[in-house]
Amino acid sequence: MCRLKKCGGAAKTLLVLAVGLVLVAQPALGAPRKSVKQKLQEDPELSQFYLLLEQNVLANFTLNFHKATFFAPTNEAFQRFKGPVDDKLILYHIASGVSQTLDKLSDTVTTSYDGSPPLWVTRLQKGNTNKKELFINNAKVLEKRSNFQGVNSQNSPQVLHVIDEVLVPLTSVSTDTSVDNPDAAGFLAQSESVQLGSHRVRSFRQRVNQNQKEAVFKAGGGNTFFIPVDEGFKPPPRPEKIDMKVIDGHVIPGRVLFIRPTPTGEEFDTLAFTDNIRVQVSFSTQPDDKSHRAYVSSNTVVGDTSHPTGVVMAEIVHANIPVKNGVVHLIHRPLMVVDTTVTQFLQSFKGIVSEKEDGPLNKLYEVIMDHGGEFMTQITNMKSLTLFAPSNAAWANANLNNILQTKDKVKEILRMHLVAEKLPLETILSENIIQVESAAARKNLYFNVIRHGHNETLTVEGGGVNATVVQPNIAATNGIVHIIDRVLGIPYSTVGEKLATDPALNKTFWLAQSERFNEQLNNPHKRFTFFVPRDAAWEKAELHYPSTHKKLFMRDFQYHAKSILERHLIVDQAFTMAELKDLFQRNESAVPHTVRDVLHIKVKEIDKTEAETGEAGYYIEWQGERILVSRPDVECTNGIIHVIDSALLRDTDVYVTGGVRGLGPVMSVLTLLLAATLAF
Ligand SMILES: *[C@@H]1O[C@H](CO)[C@@H](O)[C@H](O)[C@H]1NC(C)=O
Ligand SMILES: *[C@@H]1O[C@H](CO)[C@@H](O)[C@H](O)[C@H]1NC(C)=O
Ligand SMILES: *[C@@H]1O[C@H](CO)[C@@H](O)[C@H](O)[C@H]1NC(C)=O
Ligand SMILES: *[C@@H]1O[C@H](CO)[C@@H](O)[C@H](O)[C@H]1NC(C)=O
Ligand SMILES: *[C@@H]1O[C@H](CO)[C@@H](O)[C@H](O)[C@H]1NC(C)=O
Repeated sequence: MCRLKKCGGAAKTLLVLAVGLVLVAQPALGAPRKSVKQKLQEDPELSQFYLLLEQNVLANFTLNFHKATFFAPTNEAFQRFKGPVDDKLILYHIASGVSQTLDKLSDTVTTSYDGSPPLWVTRLQKGNTNKKELFINNAKVLEKRSNFQGVNSQNSPQVLHVIDEVLVPLTSVSTDTSVDNPDAAGFLAQSESVQLGSHRVRSFRQRVNQNQKEAVFKAGGGNTFFIPVDEGFKPPPRPEKIDMKVIDGHVIPGRVLFIRPTPTGEEFDTLAFTDNIRVQVSFSTQPDDKSHRAYVSSNTVVGDTSHPTGVVMAEIVHANIPVKNGVVHLIHRPLMVVDTTVTQFLQSFKGIVSEKEDGPLNKLYEVIMDHGGEFMTQITNMKSLTLFAPSNAAWANANLNNILQTKDKVKEILRMHLVAEKLPLETILSENIIQVESAAARKNLYFNVIRHGHNETLTVEGGGVNATVVQPNIAATNGIVHIIDRVLGIPYSTVGEKLATDPALNKTFWLAQSERFNEQLNNPHKRFTFFVPRDAAWEKAELHYPSTHKKLFMRDFQYHAKSILERHLIVDQAFTMAELKDLFQRNESAVPHTVRDVLHIKVKEIDKTEAETGEAGYYIEWQGERILVSRPDVECTNGIIHVIDSALLRDTDVYVTGGVRGLGPVMSVLTLLLAATLAF
């Protein structure tokens, strides 16, 4: 014991030392050091947290007397929180016995909650920067408001961090039963005692037991587990398909993936990633959806006889359930199991999970059903098909509203998204398929693959709309679904914009900048029919007429370019190739003039049976030359582009003599006529 008199000097020295230490620890702070308690009392945005803290005896005690780290959700976070707030919840936000600034946090933090469950710390790289965002479970750390260091009345150091979501521990359904920090296996075993709303996971548990796969759910470290709820086990043959490998496909070893800190689209290897079978899993969200519905997709890259390749998508119905060895997400159906048709897939997100009406393809489903559902009947009867399914976001386009009133047009547009064969991404890549027939008469789809390093993104163009495949390869028993980001066949850009953005039309775009020829093409009040030579067409011209081509592509001779392009353009009217053909079959004198000349063009459609010598499709004939319309009917908001395989160009078109500008004499005597097929 030390009496005051005896030890006064030593105590004083100690005090000076202690003050000195505090000053050393926080040299920037001139004012007396605040405690975390004072800080909480003073911050009106943390009042809810402080209130709960004081109400719990253990938490209050820790605040007053212990070394500790606090994770305080803002008042706004508590307002958004839908779950029950009982007096224990606060303990899941406290790590007692440690005071850690953010840089000192390791991968887990042990909390004061029943059973001392861990919090999981994720550091997420921010874009291409060196900066990292920090997450505690699914909550984001508000770094600027964190790292508050204080000492309490016992001189114990404490740290306060602020987070933007309430942390939700695993809780039991009643206060009588306790679920003290179970691992995923314990979670499965005791699922009836855990608060999961209306969800049950008995069927999956049964399959795990039957396959003796409990060990997978006991694995230490941090893992991610996907557990399908009971509703997802219909139709009847499905439960048997949940075998050992499928169970492995529901576990991502070594990664604890809460939804928010996990980048969408990134592929993670599952336990079913071996020499024989390779299954990866990725997350995605529906950005247009206010509740940011989350999905998980398994991708069986390499399968076997009972595990088909392809993607299976499931909605996450209850996310971010923390367990001792990681995190559990409940999903609406099992991954990897391919046992539904395309039709059933489209329907599968409707009403299976109660109250949830919005699936990833909900809008497409609505459009189909609003127009009589015939399209659904059509795909139901198909043995083999590929559906390019526009995402919900794709339908949020103002240009669509008018078109959706026109029944026949909608039917045609829907059919444009359908191909009567199975086309997984790998087939399109390996067989280098660049064009297929859609189910809409005379409407082809055109593919292109964009490569960024190892990433391969497929684009598909139909009726002038260039869409990107955002989720390829969803597998169904009778076909494949690729989710795309735009509705095909519904134009969204002007003729000018299309020209400017289509990489295959760059050369014509370049020429069209001559004397501002292209500006008119953006006028929304005009209508155009534009025969656009693709880049390959100009390359062909270069071979045949090198000097003409050279002059054309010299900036000094811009007027030539303009004149040549005017020969390709009909102003004030937009004709599809079918309309042009019909028109000229009926009355040859009803021919529309191009800007520059009266063109003598014959339109012919060659069908497959006749096409032995060349490609089937529309041709135009000009000055005795037969030119394939390689991409007809590229619809734009103010007209139609027909992409052609040769430029309407002759060697005599461009000549340069002492300042005479203009086209050659041949041009001026050209007759203009668009004639129809039979005379071809
Ligand atoms: C919290 O602790 C303080 C200081 O010990 C005490 O005055 C207060 O009564 C406690 N609050 C509750 C609700 O126990
Ligand atoms: C490939 O895609 C992944 C996931 O979308 C992305 O994180 C990565 O940056 C991409 N790589 C390249 C080279 O584009
Ligand atoms: C669609 O857009 C992509 C990306 O710009 C491009 O690579 C592709 O060639 C386009 N497809 C068509 C048919 O224009
Ligand atoms: C487009 O074509 C012009 C003219 O041939 C050429 O100079 C330019 O580099 C091309 N641009 C692209 C992106 O290919
Ligand atoms: C053909 O079209 C021209 C121009 O529109 C018109 O004057 C003529 O009467 C039409 N002929 C027939 C037979 O319809």
